[in-house]
Amino acid sequence: MTKTVYVLNGPNLNLLGTREPQVYGSQSLADVEQLCAAACVRHGLALVFRQSNHEGALVDWIHEAGRLHATGQLAGVVLNAAAYTHTSVALLDAVKGTGVPLVELHISNVHARESFRHHSYLAAAARAVMCGFGVQGYALAIDGLAQW
Ligand code: DQA
Repeated sequence: MTKTVYVLNGPNLNLLGTREPQVYGSQSLADVEQLCAAACVRHGLALVFRQSNHEGALVDWIHEAGRLHATGQLAGVVLNAAAYTHTSVALLDAVKGTGVPLVELHISNVHARESFRHHSYLAAAARAVMCGFGVQGYALAIDGLAQW
């Protein structure tokens, strides 16, 4: 059975490519989707790739991934919750409530940035945390969860 990877992106990541390129690089979210699709092909995984600026949409998609997890069809979730990483108990509860295997991902090295980016509500429920590899981190995260 082919397992599925959910790659979920939070607020402002639709602006990738033009948003603070010195921090996030010049590749667009469509480029990131291509990287993820190529990584999934390498590992024989299906890909669901989404972005929302709305916290509740991200919660709903984690629940959706959770239903696949419950039937053994989920490889894992790569979540770049963006600013919600640092604010959202709702996303933490969604991950804990569904038990989805989670990679928390950030394009930038959040620990080298403002102190408010140093705390993550998600890290406590994540199986792995990655940051600072640029957009290539998405492919590395899929390479990693494919070994689970
Ligand atoms: C980010 C880091 C967050 O602090 C920030 O709010 C983002 C993007 C990253 O990918 O580096 O929007 O998650």
